[in-house]
Amino acid sequence: MENKNMTMFDLLIETHIGLKRQGPGSPEMTMRALSFVDNLNEESYIADLGCGTGGQTMVIAQNTIGHIIGVDMIPNFIDIFNQNVKQLHLENRVTGIVGSVEELPFKKEELDLIWSEGVIDGIGFEKAVTYWNGFLKKGGYLAVTCPSWLTDECPSEVEKFWVDAGSGLDSIENNISILQNTGYRFISSFTLSEECWIQNYFAPREAAEKSLLEKYSGNQMVEAYIEGDRREVELYTKYKQYYGYVFYIGKKI
Ligand SMILES: C[S@@+](CC[C@H](N)C(=O)[O-])C[C@H]1O[C@@H](n2cnc3c(N)ncnc32)[C@H](O)[C@@H]1O
Repeated sequence: MENKNMTMFDLLIETHIGLKRQGPGSPEMTMRALSFVDNLNEESYIADLGCGTGGQTMVIAQNTIGHIIGVDMIPNFIDIFNQNVKQLHLENRVTGIVGSVEELPFKKEELDLIWSEGVIDGIGFEKAVTYWNGFLKKGGYLAVTCPSWLTDECPSEVEKFWVDAGSGLDSIENNISILQNTGYRFISSFTLSEECWIQNYFAPREAAEKSLLEKYSGNQMVEAYIEGDRREVELYTKYKQYYGYVFYIGKKI
């Protein structure tokens, strides 16, 4: 079926809206990062930036006390986020709002914890951690995932893919230095498991895209969109020892 007004961005939303997560990750990895955070109480304010439909936010909410605000630029994702909040009876302390993570609706030094999985590379690691630092209280935590090089060797095929996607990878060492130079004490970092990519993200995305191919049979834009995602899977399968998502945890000095 042809839909002349459909864009690649619409396809991205349609592919991801029914998934538990919109990027690589897992409840176990979220919990591991959360285990480094020791400053939360009932009065705490936590922001989950680029929360998507809230896969990781609900894990954080069920394992912390305090208030959580999820921020994402896609209203359809925030609608699902808030439906998930209701289903889990978390409305009294968790809310999803539409907004930009580059123009936060918070006061300076208001937050106890900034969480962000799968968003920062699109903005730039240094730019984002510098800007977000201003919204954290002294002693507040930052926990972010960012695709990073895992070895000194950086295959050009992978580099080109990420640069073309509007991002780019840096080494773990460089990202840690950036944290240390932008007002954080480095607390920990660890690499997300392969399962986070393959079982938790690529497999459900492929299933959603199979349905899209049936729904929009013969639509060249849909085929091109899905081809781009297939390429991402192919590259990860071939080069996964060289790059991966890394969790970085810092504490505002
Ligand atoms: C890779 S997905 C990750 C979603 C979720 N955190 C997860 O890990 O499942 C990135 C999310 O960030 C959102 N996003 C990207 N850039 C943004 C921006 N500048 N402001 C707000 N949201 C943004 C996208 O809409 C998308 O939901």
